[in-house]
Amino acid sequence: MMDRNADAPWSKFDPEVYVDLNYRTPFMADLLIVGLIRDYFSRCYERGVPASAWGVDMGAGANLYPALSMLPWCQSVHLLDHVTQNVEYLEKQASGGGYDTAWDAFWEVLSQAPAYRDVEPRSRFRDIVRVERADLLDLDVQRRWDIGTMFFVAEAMSEHPDEFRRAVECFMDALGRGAPFAAAFMKESREYQIGAHTYPACRVNADRVRESLEPFTAELEIHDLDHMVRPGHEGMILALGRRNAAIAAP
Ligand SMILES: C[S@@+](CC[C@H](N)C(=O)[O-])C[C@H]1O[C@@H](n2cnc3c(N)ncnc32)[C@H](O)[C@@H]1O
Repeated sequence: MMDRNADAPWSKFDPEVYVDLNYRTPFMADLLIVGLIRDYFSRCYERGVPASAWGVDMGAGANLYPALSMLPWCQSVHLLDHVTQNVEYLEKQASGGGYDTAWDAFWEVLSQAPAYRDVEPRSRFRDIVRVERADLLDLDVQRRWDIGTMFFVAEAMSEHPDEFRRAVECFMDALGRGAPFAAAFMKESREYQIGAHTYPACRVNADRVRESLEPFTAELEIHDLDHMVRPGHEGMILALGRRNAAIAAP
């Protein structure tokens, strides 16, 4: 039987084990992706930094680099995740002590661009990040963000293609007209293991990702990366773009 989002063992998800597996020692693929987002967002805002933009990272889990990539552009960054342990991990990262040194390697790549260089990331992260527990598939669409990221969520939350498409749609629905976004997907991923627990994945490739995003975008570039970070997938796909004007009524 295929696992739907609601059936996966999220209550057993361990953010520390997840960071150890994926980010404690940075993979080339993530560093490459961080550089691509940095340059894309820098291009989007080359005419000036918005006065009061709100950013969102959907299904932030235990990954800070999407939020770090939004720091220079935002007055406020919201990190949303459905899983209590991830919310607690993120709250700790945004609290007084400052985030873990594991994330410094990613900031180092970001800080190679001028807009990032002048930001003091730890204090900025603490000052502007707000963490919220929310279900991506059941969001309050009254609010729309000005910039957004969604990393390894839509294809890593369910085995069902309809839930993959719905997650992409919900992310797009959460963005305002013209909002720049970055979204990443594991390519052709089978179910994945975190510690003793197995989580569902929906197999997608660059065409599937493009098809799912195209109706919502004015500008879209897809990077099809062959880098492997574990057995059971065939690379990573990074989508960079802007939300078009086709906004559903709230
Ligand atoms: C593979 S992890 C990716 C985490 C992180 N964004 C990253 O880049 O590593 C999948 C994430 O999706 C979150 N998630 C699963 N179902 C969700 C839902 N219905 N709403 C919001 N987040 C969800 C999980 O808590 C987990 O953090």
